[in-house]
Amino acid sequence: MTTTNHTVRLIARPVGEAKREDFAFADETIVALAEGEMLLKVHYLSLDPAMRGWMREGKSYIEPVALGDVMRAGGIGEVVESNQGKFAKGDFLVGMTNVQTYCVTDGRGFTKVDPKLAPLTTYLNVLGMPGMTAYFGLLDVGQPKEGETVLVSGAAGAVGATVGQVARIKGCRAVGIAGGAEKCAIAMEQYKFDACVDYKAGNLRKALKEACPNGVDVYFDNVGGEILDLALTMINRKARIIVCGAISQYNATGEVKGPANYLSLLVNRARMEGIVVFDYAARYKEGAMQMGQWLMERKMISKEHVVEGIDTFPQALQKLFTGENLGKLVLKVS
Ligand SMILES: NC(=O)c1ccc[n+]([C@@H]2O[C@H](COP(=O)([O-])OP(=O)(O)OC[C@H]3O[C@@H](n4cnc5c(N)ncnc54)[C@H](OP(=O)(O)O)[C@@H]3O)[C@@H](O)[C@H]2O)c1
Repeated sequence: MTTTNHTVRLIARPVGEAKREDFAFADETIVALAEGEMLLKVHYLSLDPAMRGWMREGKSYIEPVALGDVMRAGGIGEVVESNQGKFAKGDFLVGMTNVQTYCVTDGRGFTKVDPKLAPLTTYLNVLGMPGMTAYFGLLDVGQPKEGETVLVSGAAGAVGATVGQVARIKGCRAVGIAGGAEKCAIAMEQYKFDACVDYKAGNLRKALKEACPNGVDVYFDNVGGEILDLALTMINRKARIIVCGAISQYNATGEVKGPANYLSLLVNRARMEGIVVFDYAARYKEGAMQMGQWLMERKMISKEHVVEGIDTFPQALQKLFTGENLGKLVLKVS
């Protein structure tokens, strides 16, 4: 067996946004599989804001990608050759395939998915990592109760859209914050948010007050920065703030901007708590079963924004930061 594997390796630590020059693109040869290994043909890659963090040196919840390594990425691959017993040729697996066209693995960390039950890309969205982040972040950390107001930023994105949909299913008032009229329309018409506020339209404070007449009981923060600060002025007593991400800060070259309005936590006896989805790995099945059922019952949708071509990786990733993605950003590899 000889396979040509096209790889995208991180060769420099980006300053500001990740650029094409920070990566090397090459054809490499996979000669043979060892005992216990298998070869996956990568079909789709999940493009995630967290990737920008993985390129950065320093302490985090996961080791940075080492310079020279194939860029880390979750993805979906098909087993094309197997030297081990757990997975067979033809199986579709989700796991860390990384940014390459083929992946050699012993299968650890990979899960088999059924392409007959849902489109492959759904396993990178609602039934995958962003979906689990939203589900457990909202329900486990946020503890929303029926009738409460759940506010979420990045509302038309992968995590935010699922947060809004789960909040609504649980009987909460789901209010989104998104960039632009088109995204707000998508949030309300397709994800069925009760209201969505365009943070680019100006006077966010006034718009939020109108959209959340009873204040905010749960704020699910995907963006950090000024929007987080403003959301803190809206919270009710015993509110829960879920720190899921801070995309407005990921390309910062200086200090990360923290919330100035944190005393609102004191005044309102509120709680602010981080979530790292990997902590819920043992419960993914539970989240996937529940949301799989809601998808089948058409109580929620999974919407992906698919771009093509492995070599477009650096520009494609940038769409998350410019807000060009309408739904979960996925890169079609083959
Ligand atoms: N903690 C965890 O375990 C975990 C797991 C997965 C994801 N996350 C975090 O969840 C957040 C959302 O991730 P995702 O995969 O669902 O991405 P996404 O929302 O599908 O895409 C990112 C969106 O962020 C918005 N954005 C970009 N720059 C912004 C800025 N400066 N201010 C406000 N909004 C901005 C854009 O939407 P607009 O056009 O609306 O601005 C963009 O479409 C990220 O912060 C990510 O790191 C955390």
